[in-house]
Amino acid sequence: MSLRLKAALLAIATAAAMPAAGADQALIEKGRALFSDTSLSADSKFACATCHPKNGHTDNKTYIGTNVVADGDPMGRSTPTLWAAGRRSVYSWAGTVPMLETNIRGIIVNRMKGAEPSPETLGALAAYVRSLPPQPKQVDENGVPADAAPAAVKRGFALFTGAGACGACHVPGSFDKADPEDIETGGKFKVASLWAVSQTAPYFHDGRTKTLSDAAKAMWEMSTKKAGKQTSPTAAELADVVAYLNAL
Ligand code: HEC
Ligand code: HEC
Repeated sequence: MSLRLKAALLAIATAAAMPAAGADQALIEKGRALFSDTSLSADSKFACATCHPKNGHTDNKTYIGTNVVADGDPMGRSTPTLWAAGRRSVYSWAGTVPMLETNIRGIIVNRMKGAEPSPETLGALAAYVRSLPPQPKQVDENGVPADAAPAAVKRGFALFTGAGACGACHVPGSFDKADPEDIETGGKFKVASLWAVSQTAPYFHDGRTKTLSDAAKAMWEMSTKKAGKQTSPTAAELADVVAYLNAL
């Protein structure tokens, strides 16, 4: 790659990674403060950051309301990471909430049993959540492996978009899509975004699956069945797909 092209790409990447200056930055900072504010919940016990610690990530727990339940409880919902949440096609495990602001309002009123938030509060929280970037190490923002990525990550990407047929639902870029899908996990659920998925165990809406490898294997079998001919991944294929998922 020429130096000039490299510099141009770097400028674009930096502009995309940096939040807009001025008023936007002030709104993000207001949202960052509200994110740790327990007075948003009924009894001032919970802040957003309680369940989404480490700057909007996940505490890896499964909840009904604000109660932790066993992973795999059909009514339980696993806490998603909010990293890259500004790029989801749709929100909530049900996959029925098109707007981030609406989703946040629902969490405050229904899950945290807090008072009706003002539009300013919702706007600031949404601006903060939108400012949280994906944390990819070995892939670009569309999920394409970097030149320097390990061979297993590159083979895993080829399987993800090829034999495993994952890309039909987890569209590289957002790694989700707007329409919920029934993949025989108990109804229609949102196609989970796979950014930071190595750190969001337990897996699926109810946290039924402990390891990424088991989740990827189940997905492969479902996915190839839906595509017409069910196969199981070989141990080598599964390891490559998991290497790719670990890179997101
Ligand atoms: C008691 C734990 C808990 C608290 C407190 C909490 N959340 Fe969550 N959050 C969850 C769970 C569980 C889900 C998944 C719920 C579902 O989809 O049914 C979720 C989902 C979300 C989503 C949707 C992400 C996606 O990819 O669909 C957003 C956005 C979000 N939370 C933001 C917030 C904000 C902002 C706050 C504070 C106002 C907050 N959360 C407080 C547990 C919590
Ligand atoms: C037909 C659509 C579809 C295809 C094809 C598909 N997935 Fe999924 N995937 C989903 C849905 C829907 C969920 C969420 C289901 C739930 O939570 O019950 C999901 C969830 C996941 C999860 C768990 C994410 C989390 O945060 O809990 C992983 C990992 C995953 N998929 C990987 C893959 C891989 C790897 C492939 C290809 C081998 C694949 N998926 C193919 C629809 C699909």
